[in-house]
Amino acid sequence: MGKEEKEKEEEREKVMSNRYIFLYSILLCLLFYSIAGCIKKQGILPGQETLPKKKTQTGCAECHERLTEVLPEKHISVAQENLPSCIECHSGKDSSGDVTFDRIIHLAHYSIEDSPESCWSCHEIDSKGLFRLTGVENKKGVDIEKEIVEKMNPYFLSWATSDYLDNKHAEKNINCRPCHDSSFPDWAPTMDECLTCHVSYEHISELTKDVEPNPHLSHYIDLRCTVCHKSHEASKLYCDKCHKFDLKVP
Ligand code: HEC
Ligand code: HEC
Ligand code: HEC
Ligand code: HEC
Ligand code: HEC
Ligand code: HEC
Ligand code: HEC
Repeated sequence: MGKEEKEKEEEREKVMSNRYIFLYSILLCLLFYSIAGCIKKQGILPGQETLPKKKTQTGCAECHERLTEVLPEKHISVAQENLPSCIECHSGKDSSGDVTFDRIIHLAHYSIEDSPESCWSCHEIDSKGLFRLTGVENKKGVDIEKEIVEKMNPYFLSWATSDYLDNKHAEKNINCRPCHDSSFPDWAPTMDECLTCHVSYEHISELTKDVEPNPHLSHYIDLRCTVCHKSHEASKLYCDKCHKFDLKVP
């Protein structure tokens, strides 16, 4: 290598290292600004003078400043709009003995896209460990654990929005209780629970008398309804364990 060439080589190296320093500084700058940006996001936003307020409202008021604003158009006019006054009027029971207000409110909220994420949007477990509606003091609470309450969330969502039998019943104004005989079920319904409304095998086999073969009248008598009719998942035809019938189970 000649002297001239050597000098050129050194010159090139210098330029290269300068370039690296330049690149490093850019990277450092980017890093600094992204960290600064993150801090900004968690703290004070542009145009905001103070830190975000802590949530002070709980229960319905967290989302509805005025409950009268979400009443159906044809609702009779109400003087007071606090929750206890709604419940006072809405404490009636339907023919199955079920209170209707919880069904109306649960269905309305769990069927909207931005449904409340959990039961704790509207309920609380009070200092005595009782599950109750936030903001309603004069009613007896339910003695139940937090984890069991939270287990119900996906079932509420399914009941309000699915393509399964739970939703078909919700559309007919049927709550959890007529099927389960409990607000916090940990067992599948028995046949008796279904038959309080669906009467008897004789009755339903009459409804499907034109179906071939009749799923309710076969060499299997008294098969539990839920062997075929699932409620929070797709139903399936038990008979197909041995046969191959062209039947769709609702
Ligand atoms: C986490 C937010 C949230 C909470 C808490 C909440 N709601 Fe709602 N609510 C909504 C949204 C969203 C809608 C649908 C949009 C709308 O109509 O404003 C709605 C709609 C309604 C409707 C209209 C239903 C219909 O069929 O049109 C009523 C009535 C209602 N809420 C009552 C209540 C009551 C009573 C409470 C407390 C027990 C409550 N909400 C708590 C978010 C909430
Ligand atoms: C003076 C009695 C009274 C008060 C107070 C009252 N309601 Fe009603 N509400 C009724 C009646 C009556 C109906 C219509 C009958 C029905 O459909 O059950 C009704 C219907 C509704 C419905 C529609 C029900 C459906 O089937 O879709 C909603 C939602 C409702 N009320 C929410 C509220 C809320 C929230 C409050 C409190 C701000 C409230 N109501 C206060 C008497 C009342
Ligand atoms: C948008 C508000 C809202 C949400 C969210 C909500 N509830 Fe409710 N819930 C109500 C209202 C309103 C009632 C009616 C209370 C009444 O009539 O006294 C009720 C009543 C009930 C009752 C009957 C209470 C009793 O005294 O027997 C149970 C059980 C219940 N809710 C369970 C749940 C569970 C479990 C979740 C979550 C998966 C949930 N709720 C989510 C508003 C809500
Ligand atoms: C509180 C009453 C009630 C209870 C309890 C009940 N059902 Fe129903 N069920 C109904 C009503 C009402 C319909 C709608 C009937 C109609 O459309 O003519 C229905 C519809 C059905 C359908 C037909 C759905 C369709 O899409 O054609 C099946 C299947 C069914 N129920 C099975 C069951 C099973 C299984 C149980 C028990 C786990 C049960 N039901 C509990 C009232 C009830
Ligand atoms: C072996 C599976 C199986 C069992 C067990 C079963 N079903 Fe069904 N069920 C079916 C099938 C399949 C259909 C749909 C028939 C058709 O194609 O219309 C049906 C339809 C129904 C319908 C709708 C009838 C209509 O109006 O068309 C009801 C309601 C019903 N079943 C209730 C029950 C109840 C209640 C029980 C328990 C006492 C029960 N089923 C047990 C398979 C079953
Ligand atoms: C049409 C009747 C029906 C309705 C309505 C219904 N369920 Fe169910 N539920 C069933 C059946 C049947 C099973 C058994 C598993 C299945 O079929 O998906 C079940 C299973 C469950 C289980 C699991 C129980 C276990 O074995 O540990 C829970 C929890 C539950 N339901 C909660 C609910 C809640 C909460 C509601 C109301 C939001 C509801 N269900 C409405 C029929 C129903
Ligand atoms: C454990 C296996 C098994 C299950 C599950 C089963 N079957 Fe069968 N089924 C049989 C056998 C075995 C025969 C007799 C076949 C023969 O003699 O040719 C039969 C025969 C039949 C026949 C024909 C009877 C005749 O006289 O030709 C019908 C219809 C039938 N089953 C309907 C059903 C229905 C509906 C269900 C669901 C409720 C069902 N089976 C569930 C095993 C089963």
